[in-house]
Amino acid sequence: MRKKIVAGNWKMNLDKAEALSLTTDLVDALGALPENQRVMVCPPSIHLSSVGEVAAGSKVLEVGGQNMHQSGSGAYTGEISGSMLKSYNINSVLLGHSERRAYFHENNSVLREKVDTALALGIEVIYCFGEMLEERENETHFDVVSSQLKEALFHLEASQWNHVILAYEPVWAIGTGRTASPEQAQEMHAHIRSVLTQAYGAECADGVSILYGGSVKPDNAKEIFGQPDVDGGLIGGASLKTQDFLAIVAAMS
Ligand code: PGA
Repeated sequence: MRKKIVAGNWKMNLDKAEALSLTTDLVDALGALPENQRVMVCPPSIHLSSVGEVAAGSKVLEVGGQNMHQSGSGAYTGEISGSMLKSYNINSVLLGHSERRAYFHENNSVLREKVDTALALGIEVIYCFGEMLEERENETHFDVVSSQLKEALFHLEASQWNHVILAYEPVWAIGTGRTASPEQAQEMHAHIRSVLTQAYGAECADGVSILYGGSVKPDNAKEIFGQPDVDGGLIGGASLKTQDFLAIVAAMS
């Protein structure tokens, strides 16, 4: 049975003291979760070690990276590798976030390499993807999303999908306060699951968690998460505020 997941993407926010204070507050507030739920935060890489240490006290709060390089090691100034993540006990990573695609020119073929590198190291991938506003307006959004999946992920074996989470994030909804309606989210998530079903069969597709991201807030989370093919959310701005993030976590139930 697939899990419901709320993951906080802190992006390039919070200094060390702020990061540790937020993590401590979350650890203190999060009680035991139902077996089918997970909660994760993805801090900037410089905080992974210290946030990971605080989160280790909780058994509930997981910690993931925001990015990693496709190569194992080498002359890539400023980058971090998957084995570095592993060495800090970080076992999940966001890949393909729209900001990485837009500002750091990551395309589906680089992401395919990153996915392979991560999975080979035993790092779970949270693969982010979604259409831009003009693609929705000219009604190519279903095709764009299908290509983002096929080009980066459809070379995988069915068994590898146990270690992949999808995060559909329409670019026009990220950080804009403009959320996809629950119906728009469900429509796209159902499309994603049907593309997966065609490629890998229903059993595999039914097991994959598909998160929605883009201006999820305490007041809209419940309705979005209540859609049959929405299995939780990837949360940006609202993950930086303890009470907002906890309210969104509560909306999984
Ligand atoms: P947002 O960001 O919740 O601030 O829109 C979501 C994301 O970029 O993952």
